[in-house]
Amino acid sequence: MKVMKRKLLKSNEYWARAEKIIPAGTQTFSKGPTQYVQGVAPIYLENGYGSHVYDVDGNEYIDYALALGSVTLGYAYPAVNMAIEKQLRNGINFSLMHPLEVELSEMLIKIIPCAEMVRFGKNGSDATSGAVRVARAYTGREKIACCGYHGWQDWYIGTTTRDEGVPRSTKELTIPFDYNKIESLEKIFAENEGEIAAVIMEPIIMEEPRNDFVQNVKELAHGNGALLIFDETVTGFRLALGGAQEYLGIIPDLATFGKGMSNGMPISTIVGKREIMKKFEDVFFSFTFGGETLSLASAITTIKEMQDKNAIEHFKIQGKKLMDGYNKLSRENMLQDYTQCIGLPAHSAIYFRDTNGNESLELKSLFQQEVIKRGILTIGVHNISLSHSNEDIEKTLEAYEDSLKIMSQAVEEGNIEKILEGKKIQPVFRKYLPD
Ligand SMILES: Cc1ncc(COP(=O)(O)O)c(C=O)c1O
Repeated sequence: MKVMKRKLLKSNEYWARAEKIIPAGTQTFSKGPTQYVQGVAPIYLENGYGSHVYDVDGNEYIDYALALGSVTLGYAYPAVNMAIEKQLRNGINFSLMHPLEVELSEMLIKIIPCAEMVRFGKNGSDATSGAVRVARAYTGREKIACCGYHGWQDWYIGTTTRDEGVPRSTKELTIPFDYNKIESLEKIFAENEGEIAAVIMEPIIMEEPRNDFVQNVKELAHGNGALLIFDETVTGFRLALGGAQEYLGIIPDLATFGKGMSNGMPISTIVGKREIMKKFEDVFFSFTFGGETLSLASAITTIKEMQDKNAIEHFKIQGKKLMDGYNKLSRENMLQDYTQCIGLPAHSAIYFRDTNGNESLELKSLFQQEVIKRGILTIGVHNISLSHSNEDIEKTLEAYEDSLKIMSQAVEEGNIEKILEGKKIQPVFRKYLPD
């Protein structure tokens, strides 16, 4: 497969301007240049159609980042564009409620198993933070046990290495536990008896639950008087239309969705049991753009389109081809100890390890460099959209084949750093390394 002839002049020009006036140069860490090999990867995208995006210098890529998984149908998807344009002609945000709020709520109640009542937010973080607040109000308790990533707000981000600016008193109220390790949650309940308001978790994090993990979490939470909240920001509208709760057949008390529900438009939702959701009559969860209509219109059309075209099945089929194809190539190149594609077909990730079994950002960078040069944009995660065609998948696997051959040779020759043509990828969350 040919390496693309590319220039990144405009990307670099914008970046030079941005660096001076935008802290970190980006609104979203995961989109920023620390996540892509600087010097090789484009920095700014200009437009996208279906599964393909174009950078500001006019270079074309098949995109698997999909705006952090928020684009489920495809960029500039005609039916969604039409719904947005129709609503745009009639106004964007109003002084009273709009009927679309009711229509989308009714739709979500039909689709999501735990949904009896519905509220809307803008980002996934609005929804997780609203759910946590309502759980505290409902139970009269303050502490939260969490598992996964839950967004930028104090109550969660204080548990990570990017905790600057979060008060210690807030940090002390959230305690993380490990996926598929029920004993880590048992310990939290044992040490905080009668204090945990809710367990919030991503119901699936790149691996299926083992030994009834999620069911056991539910029983443990309820046995200790805590609510169970599923953070379905990633799993929702991807594993199944009704999220991991439909996929696993385990119903939480509350659930939050974001990303994929509106094909890139900013909307999220908290859904759940009536008795708990009613508490939002008192709890403050209220903002200017809460009922903004373009996102509501887009969500309704996106979900209808996903139903009509059986998007979930498409994600599975195309995603499986990529996962299986990647792992086969990894084996053929004797790289199975260094890299594998894990997760579920609809949302999988490629990991890279060094000989000590630690994450290798060198290998990840090398892989990304080579696939980008061949027209594939990825941060190491496969988000599949309804627009990813058979041709896209074939082209991607061709790019993987070339890239893994190069990697195999680099591993053998021990010259990975030397053949990197740009700056290595950096972690968003710093790892504490020994001095
Ligand atoms: C599982 C999960 N929860 C919450 C969030 C936060 O969503 P947002 O970035 O839209 O605030 C994310 C974002 O990546 C996520 O993956």
